[in-house]
Amino acid sequence: MSAILSVEQVGVRFGGLVAIADLHFDVREGEIVSLIGPNGAGKTTAFNVMTGFLKPSQGEVRFRGTGLTDLQPHEITRLGLARTFQRTSVFPDDTVFDNVMIGLHRQGAQSRRAPLLDALIGRAGASERRLRARAEALLDWVGLSERAGEKAGALAYGEQRLVGVALALATEPAMLLLDEPVSGMNASETQVFVSLIRQIRERGITVLLVEHDMPMVMEVSDRILVLNYGRLIAEGPPDRIRSDPAVIEAYLGQGKAARQAAAEVQEPAHA
Ligand SMILES: Nc1ncnc2c1ncn2[C@@H]1O[C@H](COP(=O)(O)OP(=O)(O)O)[C@@H](O)[C@H]1O
Ligand SMILES: [Mg+2]
Repeated sequence: MSAILSVEQVGVRFGGLVAIADLHFDVREGEIVSLIGPNGAGKTTAFNVMTGFLKPSQGEVRFRGTGLTDLQPHEITRLGLARTFQRTSVFPDDTVFDNVMIGLHRQGAQSRRAPLLDALIGRAGASERRLRARAEALLDWVGLSERAGEKAGALAYGEQRLVGVALALATEPAMLLLDEPVSGMNASETQVFVSLIRQIRERGITVLLVEHDMPMVMEVSDRILVLNYGRLIAEGPPDRIRSDPAVIEAYLGQGKAARQAAAEVQEPAHA
């Protein structure tokens, strides 16, 4: 399978601090890949470079062969690389359905040529109906159909994040980047999200996630990339990562939370 995303010797400096050095990896079409690593390892920085929010000091990211360095985030989205944001940003007093409609209108704002002309020739009703059908399909996809009429603010945290996933999917991406998608979710919400990730892949969308939840990463990933101090220290399928001495060392070297994460990495091996 060919690479859909290539990270080529990317380096990022913040003043004297090297946040990422010589980062290089490919993601192949149809894969589910996770980027993990202890706090401060450079995961968010890498994510921001891939999505155009940060320009690398060195190297290049290619998506379907196109270099992303000179592109704005919305141009990258238009190429078919979509992302979700770590923080949820729903309009709490609007319904779940209206939140998706607002997002679809926003996305369409740049591409829709002539709403006035549409109105004059009577197409407004038709295009609004199309948009509503689209919103319904997206809510169905992420499993929120039954909540469509409720205020978004009434949803559980994990469900609010699904609204963000629906809007990322609305851009019809070839690849989806998820930034700590299950942080703050309880175990059952996480399981729902794991099946959603698999469904997304089944529809032909490549997935790259940055995530802290080790059991979740081990369960869902085809391949895992491990960053430590801005450098790639391991890469491989979950079974290999779980038993990799460098990975265990990287997590053990950290505080209590990281030691717990390291224990979780190894846990399934003993199960
Ligand atoms: N905007 C910034 N300015 C200065 N230093 C930063 C900035 N963003 C991140 N860093 C530093 O870069 C390193 C990597 O951070 P980050 O990518 O957020 O790590 P992670 O997401 O893996 O926890 C850390 O040492 C962090 O303090
Ligand atoms: Mg981070």
